[in-house]
Amino acid sequence: LSEQEMEGLDLFKEKGLCAECHILENDERAGRVLFTDHTYDNLGIPSNPDNPFFRVPAPYNTAGRDTMDLGLGAFLHDSTEFGKFRVPTLRNITLTAPYGHNGYFKTLEEIVHFYNVRDVEEYPAPEYAETVNRDELGNLGLTPEEEAAIVLFMYTLTDGYQID
Ligand code: HEC
Repeated sequence: LSEQEMEGLDLFKEKGLCAECHILENDERAGRVLFTDHTYDNLGIPSNPDNPFFRVPAPYNTAGRDTMDLGLGAFLHDSTEFGKFRVPTLRNITLTAPYGHNGYFKTLEEIVHFYNVRDVEEYPAPEYAETVNRDELGNLGLTPEEEAAIVLFMYTLTDGYQID
């Protein structure tokens, strides 16, 4: 890794807290790093106004723009798990924009900025507010350079990636 990519990895582990959920240990069954601990969490991502499902008519969509994806909780019929989504892998993450379960973030820069400042800048309300994780994200104190380094680190997780 280049110096800046190394810095990104350090921030991913320490100040950014990313590796708390996108873990760096070998996955028990896959035998390699998958960048997920397979748990579920609610990051407080806002509803995506461009979600094409909002324009789908009844009887398929009966709530229109108010349709909410309740994630794990909908599947389990358990309101304490509403709004929680599985921690996704970050392998080849540069190739799979947009980001978040509803595609709210168009770029990696946008989602990293959200992790950093969710609680100090103005964002629309979370899609489902009651279960939002308030402990591990939202006010990380990363500088713009540090945000950029984390993004650069994620570029290195792309198949065939080479330092130029
Ligand atoms: C508390 C656990 C947790 C922490 C800490 C965390 N993530 Fe995530 N991450 C998740 C979950 C859960 C999702 C899926 C959320 C959703 O779709 O609603 C996610 C989604 C993402 C995505 C979008 C993936 C996709 O395929 O759409 C990226 C990129 C990402 N995280 C990077 C990071 C980075 C970088 C950090 C550190 C700054 C970080 N994460 C910290 C749990 C976490």
